[in-house]
Amino acid sequence: MNTRIITIDREHPDKMLLEEAGRLLREGALVAFPTETVYGLGGDGLQEDAAARIYAAKGRPSDNPLIIHIADMAALEILAVDIPELAYRLAERFWPGPLTMILKKSKLVPYATTGGLETVAIRMPSDKIAQEIIRASGTYIAAPSANLSGRPSPTRAEHVIEDLSGRVEMIVDGGDSDIGLESSIIDLSGEVPVILRPGFITKEDFEQIAAEVEYDRAVLATKPQESVVAKAPGMKYRHYAPKGQITIVEGETEAVVKKINELVAEQEQKGIQTAVLCAEETKEQYVCRKIYSLGSLKSEKEISAHLFAALRLSDTEQMEVIYSESFDTTKLSGAIMNRLRKAAGYQILHV
Ligand code: TXA
Ligand code: MG
Repeated sequence: MNTRIITIDREHPDKMLLEEAGRLLREGALVAFPTETVYGLGGDGLQEDAAARIYAAKGRPSDNPLIIHIADMAALEILAVDIPELAYRLAERFWPGPLTMILKKSKLVPYATTGGLETVAIRMPSDKIAQEIIRASGTYIAAPSANLSGRPSPTRAEHVIEDLSGRVEMIVDGGDSDIGLESSIIDLSGEVPVILRPGFITKEDFEQIAAEVEYDRAVLATKPQESVVAKAPGMKYRHYAPKGQITIVEGETEAVVKKINELVAEQEQKGIQTAVLCAEETKEQYVCRKIYSLGSLKSEKEISAHLFAALRLSDTEQMEVIYSESFDTTKLSGAIMNRLRKAAGYQILHV
């Protein structure tokens, strides 16, 4: 398949190109597009064939359900039934934005999209290009992250091109993702709202709106989880994994730096390609041939926006062993460490 790559200028978006992307989706083709979280691999959420093609393009098992992306509130009541009042309050506060809600699905939504589940995941992205493409399609767009299964989520078009070139009809380049971590997922289909995946919207944010919110056990896991029904990434399938083995070193900064430098020296002596993943504040203290700084701990979004790109770069640069700090940013550390722990296969060293 020949993949068309188009670039959309956010200041002066070319309507004709967005219409073209929408038309392809309506016809059942696959279009990867930017969102504020990560790039999505879009297909018509109401066409069984489109869902099947998404799974094939990603190399993803078909019981791992997809998120349907919408551009207006009317779509919510078309795709979901028995919608609790809380869903409207959360939508009011966090949509459009990095929030996915799990609700009971309507008959319109095919099981091919929900991985056989009676529930459906719905999100209204804030990214203008994503919104325009959804509107232009005239339908609702199922879109998992636009990476090959098992690879870090894409935060810029070149990551999508790396993974999906030749597998989708179109890739829309809209520049770097703003947040860089996938949406927060909250399950509203049961008695108590449950966070299935932490993201930019945190438990504290949810608690401002909902009286009671719980984390799914797997979110807090410090070991791999066995899960029978796929709920969120990494619960059942391996996710976010670079080829190199990551070890997270946790503890007081000084002790962490000392330990990582010792470990790096040992590995480099053996001729092993070794990298350090750290914050801007500490990067000068490491002695290692390859240092990936994710940005300043003081900025809310720098670390999150750069994490997946750094993991991908470590693959491109063929790093075999990676030592990472633990990132204690104010708001997003829960979401960041959730991704990093999975990428490390829960290999954590306390010093
Ligand atoms: O930020 C995001 O959410 C991005 C962008 C493209 O919107 N999308 C994304 O999709 O991360 P994906 O497929 O990589 O992750 C969605 C996860 C699935 O792994 C699945 O476990 C969970 O959402 N999910 C989807 N439908 C579900 C359902 N009905 N019940 C429970 N979990 C569900
Ligand atoms: Mg994904």
